[in-house]
Amino acid sequence: MTGPVGPRLVLVGPPGSGKSTVGRLLAERLGVEFRDTDADIVATAGKPIADIFVDEGEPHFRELEKQAVAAALAEHPGVLALGGGAVLAESTRALLKDRKVAYLEVALADAVRRVGLDAPRPLLAVNPRQQWRELMERRRPLYLEVAAAVISTEDRTPEQVAEAVLVSLELKEA
Ligand code: S3P
Repeated sequence: MTGPVGPRLVLVGPPGSGKSTVGRLLAERLGVEFRDTDADIVATAGKPIADIFVDEGEPHFRELEKQAVAAALAEHPGVLALGGGAVLAESTRALLKDRKVAYLEVALADAVRRVGLDAPRPLLAVNPRQQWRELMERRRPLYLEVAAAVISTEDRTPEQVAEAVLVSLELKEA
């Protein structure tokens, strides 16, 4: 028998939910590689995401993202984190069906605090609180649609979030 194809688990959630930090911890715990589709897009395009948005526009970025997600789902056997907007694509949501997908839920205040300290996000450049709220109104149903587990990040350390993901997705060794 062959093993399952593609990632052991996939993390989705809005910017600032901790996908990269938690994803790295999970990869370490599971003894697998971590991959992040944002980084794949940057590598393919040869420039930062903010520059892709400015030079080619968001629709072009979303095309690159669809391709990057499909490629990673097909070939990456470890832990995979998707960019916050990846679930907007119907084709991506279809590819996520029946996979171990964890949605990291985060409150607005925590997300804004984290994003403020992190790499620049073009969609949140102006009025991040308002932008983030609007993004979430549109995306929450989509995150829920693809999620096999919904994990609260509130009052939890990244280690505790990683543990909750493993338990919820039944990936923990007994
Ligand atoms: C985006 C989130 C970013 C990145 C791009 C667009 C979004 O990824 O893909 O800036 O639409 O929410 P993170 O969720 O890793 O910040």
